[in-house]
Amino acid sequence: MSDDKILMQTPRGTHDRLPEDETAWRFVYRALEKRADGFGYSQIVTPTFEHAQIYIRALGEKTDIVEKEMFEVRRATQESDDSEKTKNDSYILRPEGTAGIIRAYREHGMHTWQQPVKLWYFGSMFRAERPQKGRYREHWQAGFEVIGDGDPATDALVIYVGWQFFSDLGIKDKIVVDINSVGCPTCRVKYKKNLIAHYHAFRNEICVNCARRLESNPIRLLDCKEEKCNKVKERAPQILDQLCTNCREHFRVVLESLDELGVRYDLNPYLVRGLDYYTRTTFEFRITHDDKRQNSLGGGGRYDGFVELFGGSPTPGLGFGLGIDRIVETIKDLNIAIPSKPLPDVFLIQLGEHAKKACFSLVSQLGEQGLSAICHPGKDGLKNQLSLADRAGVRFAVIIGQRETIDETAILRDMSEATQETITQKDLSEILKKKLVSA
Ligand code: HAM
Repeated sequence: MSDDKILMQTPRGTHDRLPEDETAWRFVYRALEKRADGFGYSQIVTPTFEHAQIYIRALGEKTDIVEKEMFEVRRATQESDDSEKTKNDSYILRPEGTAGIIRAYREHGMHTWQQPVKLWYFGSMFRAERPQKGRYREHWQAGFEVIGDGDPATDALVIYVGWQFFSDLGIKDKIVVDINSVGCPTCRVKYKKNLIAHYHAFRNEICVNCARRLESNPIRLLDCKEEKCNKVKERAPQILDQLCTNCREHFRVVLESLDELGVRYDLNPYLVRGLDYYTRTTFEFRITHDDKRQNSLGGGGRYDGFVELFGGSPTPGLGFGLGIDRIVETIKDLNIAIPSKPLPDVFLIQLGEHAKKACFSLVSQLGEQGLSAICHPGKDGLKNQLSLADRAGVRFAVIIGQRETIDETAILRDMSEATQETITQKDLSEILKKKLVSA
């Protein structure tokens, strides 16, 4: 492929979001906003790039994201006397949102605010993964985080925010919440030992990746989808059988609360998730109608050790991230009815130089009255402009020709009825307002 052809394409694993996707994305964003407001979350915006160290520390050195998927950010030129240069100035494009949120919680002293601090965010995340449908190098997430609350019923309420969001989109029937507990560091030490012993016994039967994970990050062995490893996994000890009393009790209350809220869930003892910060509850919103695609539309869990990891005092927390690209693809695949966007109130058609001026004063008159008007001063001819008005989907068009300019009148055309009447220009806003109410 020629260099120019390559340059005219989005980088691998990224995609343009075109106007044809506007209504679906807006539909999803509005549903998020509604539930965030309704459940008492405030929006936070953090930078798209952060110190690499916070992600290495938070996600874990031996996780796939840190080992293979981080995009480094560098200045294209380095000045020799760069006064900004510090030993921590290695930056990455954020691969997920939670670490940035916990950094902000620490930086802004949010521990002094009333607890819990409930935040939500919307933005793009970057992972150098092998691209495929539903898996991108830049993807969009909406995240919800509750910091400063260790109550197990809160886990269920946080999951419920997502559940209600999917209900608003009209796809709740196609979603199930996969849920597990990965315990606290104490139960995990014991569990890891048993898991390693089990996998060692089947060392020759597992894939190369799992052989590596056995040494570096044994919990992630449960993530493998290879058929030969599945057989070993099915016989592996399950963490739910090895939780300490407190973690078991925590999980019992979470499940009971989910029952009360009417959330459909499946216990999934293999759901360990790919980030090291999780403790106790982990969950994913999985679509049930299509096994072949990337079927996790969102996921999260508790991270009770996170704030401490960043030098704060012990503070429980939890949250989840929703994969917006996948969610938009799902509602499109399922042909969910998406509300259309509001249309302009009127299209102004001008015929001739003087009419153009009259149109401008009408744009201003309508704008002052809170109405919206579009016109294309660069276009001529009635037929041409009527077809543009038709394409814009407006109910009303206003036509101003030479005669109307002299008389200070306008022809008001009802595009769907194909009827028209002559009115005075100064009355346009009032007449249009009435007509729009009854249209
Ligand atoms: P995550 O499971 O890595 O969790 O990502 C959340 C969701 O983002 C996934 O369920 C998926 O829908 C979507 N997603 C992830 N990677 C990609 C990708 N490459 N392309 C398209 N969509 C993707 C987190 O990121 C955690 N920070 C969630 C969290 C918040 N946990 C606690 N609080």
